[in-house]
Amino acid sequence: MKKIYINQTPEYIGKKITISAWIDTRRDHGKVVFLDLKDKSGILQAVGQCLGKEFQPQCVIQVQGKIKQRPEKMQNKKLETGKIELEIETIKLLTESEPFPFDINDKLTLPILLDYRPITLRNPKIRAIFKIEEGITESFRKNMRALDFTEFHAPAIVPSTTEGGAEVFSLDYYNSKAYLAQSPQLYKQIMVGVFERVFTVAHAYRAEPSVTTRHIAEYVSLDAEMGFIDSWKDIMEVCEKLIKNILNDLEKNYKKELKIFLATIPEIKGKIPVLTLQEALDILYKLTKKDQRNEPDLDPEGEKEICQYIKEKYGSDFVFITHFPVSKRPFYTFPDPENPKLTLSFDILCRGLEIVTGGQRINDYKKLLENIKKWGNNPETFSFYLQAFKYGMPPEGGFALGLERMVKQILGLENIREAIPFPRDMQRIDQRLYKND
Ligand code: 4AD
Repeated sequence: MKKIYINQTPEYIGKKITISAWIDTRRDHGKVVFLDLKDKSGILQAVGQCLGKEFQPQCVIQVQGKIKQRPEKMQNKKLETGKIELEIETIKLLTESEPFPFDINDKLTLPILLDYRPITLRNPKIRAIFKIEEGITESFRKNMRALDFTEFHAPAIVPSTTEGGAEVFSLDYYNSKAYLAQSPQLYKQIMVGVFERVFTVAHAYRAEPSVTTRHIAEYVSLDAEMGFIDSWKDIMEVCEKLIKNILNDLEKNYKKELKIFLATIPEIKGKIPVLTLQEALDILYKLTKKDQRNEPDLDPEGEKEICQYIKEKYGSDFVFITHFPVSKRPFYTFPDPENPKLTLSFDILCRGLEIVTGGQRINDYKKLLENIKKWGNNPETFSFYLQAFKYGMPPEGGFALGLERMVKQILGLENIREAIPFPRDMQRIDQRLYKND
C-alpha cells in the first residue's frame, strides 16, 4: 500500500489522489463544507458539497479528489499546503469518533497533558518532542557504530542492585527476589569482555522517592562502554565527540521540530570546559557565599549556577565536572591514583542539569571484589558479573546519557515528564495513583 502523505500533496497539483487521514476541523458554509484533514505530516484543506453529518472531527476517512491551486487571496501562508486544496470527489468513513473532550492545541496543564496522553500526544507540538528523541537515539546509534561499538540488549530483570542507593524496584520473581535494572551498567561491562566496545539503548528504573522536574521512575539510558583505554580521558573524548555529532545531526535534520519550540541547539565553543568538583564548589562559594565546599556533589541550584558561570566565561552550554568522591560513586568506580579519596569519574551538565555520568571502572578482579564487600554488598550476588573480571578484563570505562534529560534541556521543557511519552513516577503509571493530592 502506497500512502500519499499530506506534506507531499503540493507535488500533485492537477492530479487525482487518495488521502487517508483524520478530520481535524469541519466548517459548514451552506452546501459547501470545508474539512481540514490531518495526518502525521501536516494539515490539508479539503472542500466538498453536501457532506453527510457523520464526517466530524477525529473521524478517520479516505478521500478521493483533485489537488487544485487555491486562488491567491484564499491562500494560507502559515500552512505548508496553504496554496492548495483537495476537491473532494468521493469520501468514505473508515472509523467514526467521539469529539475530543478539549482542544488539544490549547496550552494544557501537566496533569491534563498526562492524564489524556493517548490524545494529547497527537498535538503536533508534543509529537515534535518525540521526533527529536528519535533523532537523538538514531544519531547515538549511528555515531557509536561509526566508532566501532557493537550494540547489545541489556536485561531489565536483574538479581542485584547496580548503582547503590535505595532507589530500586524489587519484584517477586518465581518466589525469589529480583530487581528492575537501575542501569545496564554491569552488563555493558561484561560485554566489553566480548566486543571491546559496546553500546545499548536501555530502559533504566529508579524508585525515586520524591517528585522533581528532573526525575522519572523509568527512563531511557544511552549507554556506552569501551575497553583498552589508555586513560579515562579517552572516555570523555568519545562522549564529547558523540554529543557534538548528535547536536549537528539535530540541527541538520530536525529544523522543523526545533523551530516549533523556538529552540536553539546548545553551544560548545571549541572543547567542553572541564572543572573538578572541588574547583566548581570553590567557584560557587566565591559567587554565592553559600559554603558547600565540603559537599560530595553539586545540588540542583549549584548545577544551574555553575552552568551560568561557564556560559558567561566560555560561551559553552556544557561543562564536565570531574573527580567525584569515592563515597558518592558506585563500587565499580576507579579511584584516582593521585588521591584515592576521589574517583576518575565525570558528569556532564547541560544548561544547568546533569545529563551524563561516566568514568573509568575498576577492572582488577581482586580490587572489585574488595570494593563490593566494602560497599556492604554480598559478593555472591555479584559472582556472575565477577566472572568477566576473573578472566581478564582490559582497562575500561564508559558513560550513560539520559535521553529525556537531554531532550528537556534542548527544548527548554519545564518538566522531564513532558519528554517521555508515558512517564512513570511515584504518583503515576499512566493514570494517577493518588487522585487526591
Ligand atoms: O548518574 P547515573 O545514575 O549513572 C549511571 O547509571 C551509571 N551506570 C552511568 C555510567 O556509565 N557510569 O545515571 C546516568 C544518567 C544521568 O546522568 C541522567 O542523565 C540519567 O541517567 N538519569 C535519570 N534520568 C531521568 N530520571 C532519573 N530518575 C534518572 N536517573 C539518572
